[in-house]
Amino acid sequence: MNVDKIKKDFPIFEKIDIAYLDSGATSQRPQCVIDAIDNFYKTKNANPHRGAYELSIEATDVYENTRKKIAKFINAEKSEQIIFTKNASEALNLIAYSYGLENLGEDDSVIISIMEHHSNLVPWQFVTKKTGSKLEYMYINDEYELSEEEIKAKITDNTKIVGITHVSNVLGTINNVKEIIKYAHKKGAIVVVDASQSIPHMKVDVQDLDADFLVFSGHKMLGPLGIGVLYGKKRLLNDMNPFLMGGDMIEYVYEDKTTFAPLPNKFEAGTQNVEGVVGLGAAIDYIESIGYDTIAKIEEEVVGYAKQELAKLDFVETYYTPNEDNHCGVISFNIKGVHPHDLATILDSQGIAVRAGDHCAQPLIRFLKLPATCRASFYIYNNKEDVDRLVEALKKAYSMFEKFIKK
Ligand code: ALA
Repeated sequence: MNVDKIKKDFPIFEKIDIAYLDSGATSQRPQCVIDAIDNFYKTKNANPHRGAYELSIEATDVYENTRKKIAKFINAEKSEQIIFTKNASEALNLIAYSYGLENLGEDDSVIISIMEHHSNLVPWQFVTKKTGSKLEYMYINDEYELSEEEIKAKITDNTKIVGITHVSNVLGTINNVKEIIKYAHKKGAIVVVDASQSIPHMKVDVQDLDADFLVFSGHKMLGPLGIGVLYGKKRLLNDMNPFLMGGDMIEYVYEDKTTFAPLPNKFEAGTQNVEGVVGLGAAIDYIESIGYDTIAKIEEEVVGYAKQELAKLDFVETYYTPNEDNHCGVISFNIKGVHPHDLATILDSQGIAVRAGDHCAQPLIRFLKLPATCRASFYIYNNKEDVDRLVEALKKAYSMFEKFIKK
């Protein structure tokens, strides 16, 4: 399967001439995802779990069958371990509030990496402050990776929770989450994996990883905005209190007390984003029809080419690990002496979409002693032409800024 054929599945590229290099922020959607949502509203729309009539039963089936599809996709034992949320951030907040607040004490620590997105960092700041526990960081080495020594130095017998991103949204570093989980379990800690930046690109198997919790968003993996997934081990989810309260998450409600529904409904209060679930199901079908092996091949080629071409520009600084096997999806870069926001604006004027700023990872950007970065993030519809356009636009930008750069 070649990229040009895949690109045709994405209607946005027929309408807009753009080198879209911001899939780390949100991917584009293939026609089949758009059609699935359209078809749901035309033929199946009703509120799941609420009605005894045929249409509501059909909507319930669509909703619950997608839950089963996701369970299979990430190899969860049971579909009730899949909880629908608004996005990965909400899923991480759910874990921090419902698990963290209840299970942390003064002698405990939460360990996260310095490369976490704010969504796997700020909730832990909040709950560690509330519970009097400590929040500590695992720092990266000169190769933008977490060393084994650092992991072993930071995860101790006092560690109760480890929060780790599978792939850094700024550096593209792939963390060895399987080994981190193994070590954390030895120390008696549970591990929360943020798979938002990995699941678009690689197979995620929760049982193989032995993850206690794992979260991701639909919109970075070709699905709609506003739908996320929380996976948790059943024992942990069963013991946790609900995060949001309201309709459909209850069993019995009395004037003075309530008993809660079993999993997964306990964590799904109120009417859910069914169109989001339907679209995510279609996105999974699409990813599976291409296959992760093909996805990896396409991305290796385009990201490899981007690395090679960017390396030829001596005015461009890049930030990614030299260990190719530990890198995926994104390349952060700067032109020395040019603010990334100015650079991104010039690139935009030439039809190149990159993200510029701190990428919701301020502690990491501070640790790297950078003002911010531009970030090109790649997906299955990107080809070498997109890279060539980026390179040409960078040369043009440099020629504009050169005389203002202090050497
Ligand atoms: N987390 C998204 C990104 O890295 C928004 O761009």
